[in-house]
Amino acid sequence: MALTNLSRSVEGYVAFITGAASGMGEATAKLFASEGAKVALVDVNAEGLQRVVSEIEAEGCSVRGWTLDLSDGDAIKQTINAAAAHFGGLDMLVNNAGISIPAPIDGDEYEAAWSKSFDILITAHIRTIRASLPYLRESQNPRIVNIASTEGLGATKGGSPYTAAKTGVIGLTRSLAVELGPEGITVNCICPGPIRTGMTDAIPEENKQVYARRRVALKRYAEPEEVAHGTLNFCLPASSFMTGAHLPVDGGLTIKNA
Ligand code: NAI
Repeated sequence: MALTNLSRSVEGYVAFITGAASGMGEATAKLFASEGAKVALVDVNAEGLQRVVSEIEAEGCSVRGWTLDLSDGDAIKQTINAAAAHFGGLDMLVNNAGISIPAPIDGDEYEAAWSKSFDILITAHIRTIRASLPYLRESQNPRIVNIASTEGLGATKGGSPYTAAKTGVIGLTRSLAVELGPEGITVNCICPGPIRTGMTDAIPEENKQVYARRRVALKRYAEPEEVAHGTLNFCLPASSFMTGAHLPVDGGLTIKNA
């Protein structure tokens, strides 16, 4: 049996990536751009976004950034339409932006943390997906990748809004994979473990090392690029039969008992 000539490249396709000013979003933007994709980047952090856009431009890649607060549904629609108009379509959507708010169940700020977490970690996903669908339906390589977390597979005390939202992202991924499958649109998610990004920056290095030694099979935190490669894999034209999956990129955190 001869192998089919499936493409292992995203070259020429347009990727819309949220939370691209830092961490995994930045690494994903740079990786996709270096693989020849055109990258439409959004973030609420205008300064950080401009830095990433300039760095990608300096490599001679095709990139444009839009400052966007993902809690604003109308702005999401406008930005996705603007990005698709600028690049002549949209093929791949990476829902990556996120926040992590500590929220003990009996804390005064619990309900505020719940609302904010759900706004950014899951409601924004359905809004970007709904706004992107007309473009994905026109694409030769329609791909949606949601960034969930190992917190969607297990739990840490004091963070139930984050855990609930991330668990929801896995459910959303599965449900939309079923609904959009007949149209050839794949929907997958990544569950990163402990990664060195803005989100984990404040954790002291020693605590990171102790945690990694105890809990992670590979005994370390990962660099954001190591997660971006998982996202890229889901977006390849060759990954045509993968949908509804959640991929832990966690150094073995979720399979390690002792
Ligand atoms: P990060 O803090 O470095 O990057 C998150 C980006 O999202 C920032 O640039 C931030 O400005 C942006 N963002 C936040 N709120 C926004 C809003 N309202 N509108 C637009 N952009 C907004 O963090 P990291 O770690 O790179 O986070 C990426 C994703 O990975 C998040 O969904 C996070 O929950 C998830 N994750 C992170 C893990 C880690 O260990 N760092 C582990 C598992 C999941």
